[in-house]
Amino acid sequence: MKRLGILISGRGSNFEAIADSIEVGRLEAEIAIVISNNPHAKGLRTAKRRGFKAVCIRSRAIDREAYDRLVIEKLRQERVDLVCLAGFMRLLSAHFVNEYPRRILNIHPSLLPSFPGLEAQLQALEHGVKYTGCTVHFVDERLDAGPIIAQAVVRVRDSDSEDQLAARILEEEHRVYTEAVRLVLSGDFRIEGRRVLRTP
Ligand code: GAR
Repeated sequence: MKRLGILISGRGSNFEAIADSIEVGRLEAEIAIVISNNPHAKGLRTAKRRGFKAVCIRSRAIDREAYDRLVIEKLRQERVDLVCLAGFMRLLSAHFVNEYPRRILNIHPSLLPSFPGLEAQLQALEHGVKYTGCTVHFVDERLDAGPIIAQAVVRVRDSDSEDQLAARILEEEHRVYTEAVRLVLSGDFRIEGRRVLRTP
């Protein structure tokens, strides 16, 4: 069984969606460890309550690569095969990316390459796009930039507040993250340039 390491910073709903998918048999994998850089993350409490191994490795006042080395050590201890960033609000160092080549995924609440970075839903509203959505991609050391594995489209309504739009995007995030993890674990893809292509 492939072992997932899930990195969070906050609410942890994408982590929960992956956990739910595993529970109902939609995804064949196990969650080896949940790591939060933020001791107050709601997702950390949820993970513990649900019986997962969950730890906080604080990122405050520590150099990026030194921090990443601590996280890598934990992931290795737990024999993690695939790292899933789920609302983990930190850039990874090149060292981290090289330790897990093509084995780190991230979810972002926009149709990348539009609206990378923070407050992607607000950026989309303010830009006036009619459609936005979410993206699961391989992680490299650049922000929200690696090859795209899966996307889902969400229509922007005239009446949308930022919260309403974010909530509809989040529903799609929860669905699409499982699909992307399943594809990557299956190995049924190849990467050509920036394109992630399914292999039959
Ligand atoms: C999600 O919307 C995720 O796409 C976003 O943070 C939220 C975390 O929610 N991630 C980013 O913006 C990364 N650039 P969650 O903690 O409930 O999964």
